[in-house]
Order: sequence, then structure tokens, then C-alpha cells
Amino acid sequence: MIGILKKRRSIRKYKDEKIKPQEIKDLLQAALLAPASKGISSNSFLVVDDREILDKLALCKVHGAGFLAQTPLAVVVLGDPKISDVWVENSSIAAIIMHLTAASMNIGSCWIQIRNRFNCDDVSSENYVREVLNIPDQYRVGVIIAVGYADEQKTAHEEEPFPNDKVFLNIYGNKLP
Ligand SMILES: Cc1cc2nc3c(=O)[nH]c(=O)nc-3n(C[C@H](O)[C@H](O)[C@H](O)COP(=O)(O)O)c2cc1C
Repeated sequence: MIGILKKRRSIRKYKDEKIKPQEIKDLLQAALLAPASKGISSNSFLVVDDREILDKLALCKVHGAGFLAQTPLAVVVLGDPKISDVWVENSSIAAIIMHLTAASMNIGSCWIQIRNRFNCDDVSSENYVREVLNIPDQYRVGVIIAVGYADEQKTAHEEEPFPNDKVFLNIYGNKLP
């Protein structure tokens, strides 16, 4: 696991190649294994591979989503606040599991933050995405995971020196031995 955590990077440049259907299913199956508050998942997923729709999604926020216009696949993670008051956590966990699973499968991916973001017309990114994808009002959109075969190389993360100023034992300020 630590190897995948080191290898995982945010990939934003992808080959112009469709992701294999079985790989898409594997990513979704991984997301469905995510832990959820009270064991009740508030997540659902919208897989987007339509070029025109992806191009529209690229405009969902001012910065950080433009590369969707050159991305072959996106998974929009939907949360239902009626099912869980902690839908943000549930959907974030599912998203990060997809991101890590993609890395383990040698597939590039990147988190695109939607909740609390706005597009260039000052429309909330969530409402913009809801409109483009015809998502019913009951769902919230926290995050989109962009997915594709990497067309950029990034160096793996290295283990940092242990951060004694950020990890404490028993009482805040007590260093770990
Ligand atoms: C909560 C969260 C929101 C993020 N939002 C975006 C985003 O909207 N667009 C984007 O390109 N990257 C986004 N990222 C990816 C970060 O920019 C990236 O993780 C960070 O720069 C570190 O790079 P690395 O993932 O390659 O280690 C987000 C990551 C997280 C955890």
C-alpha cells in the first residue's frame, strides 16, 4: 500500500485513448467498497465518456478543470444528503479510493474539486455540473475524478523526514519517542 501511496500523483495529461470497459468497472467496484458512515452509502456515480459533455464539464470552474477537455473519462461522485449527513466524507473517501485504485492499475487520475467552487460566470460549479448532466436536485456533487492513461511522467513521492511538529503522543505537544 505504501508503494501505491508514493507512486500516486495527480495526472492531468492523458493519451487520446478510451479506458477499457473492464477497467472502468474495476474503478467503480473499488469505490463501492468504500467505508461509509453507519455502513450506509450515500454515494452514486455518473461515468462520463462523451466528448461534448466532458468539454462542457471543463468549464465548471475557473481553475483546475480545464484539462477535462483533453480527458477521456470522468467519474462524477454524487452524494445524497437525505441518506447521510456526512455525504461529503462518504463521497470523498470513495473518490480517493478511485484515485488510489487507478494508480495501482497504472491509470492516471486527478481529483477535481466541485463543492464550494464557482465558474467564470460566478455560478456554483455544483449547479453548473448538475445542469450539464441533468442531475436531480436531491444530489450534491462534491468531486469529479478525471481518468485516463497518463501522457506525462511524474516522480513518485518520497517519504518525508518524520514531522515531529505535526504528530503528537497522548497530549498535544508531546513528541513521539
Ligand atoms: C480536496 C482536493 C481538491 C483538489 N482539487 C483539484 C482541482 O480542482 N483540480 C486539480 O487539477 N487538482 C486538484 N487537486 C489535486 C491537487 O492539486 C494535488 O493533489 C496536489 O497538487 C499534490 O499533487 P499530487 O497529487 O501529484 O501529489 C485536489 C486535491 C484535493 C485533495
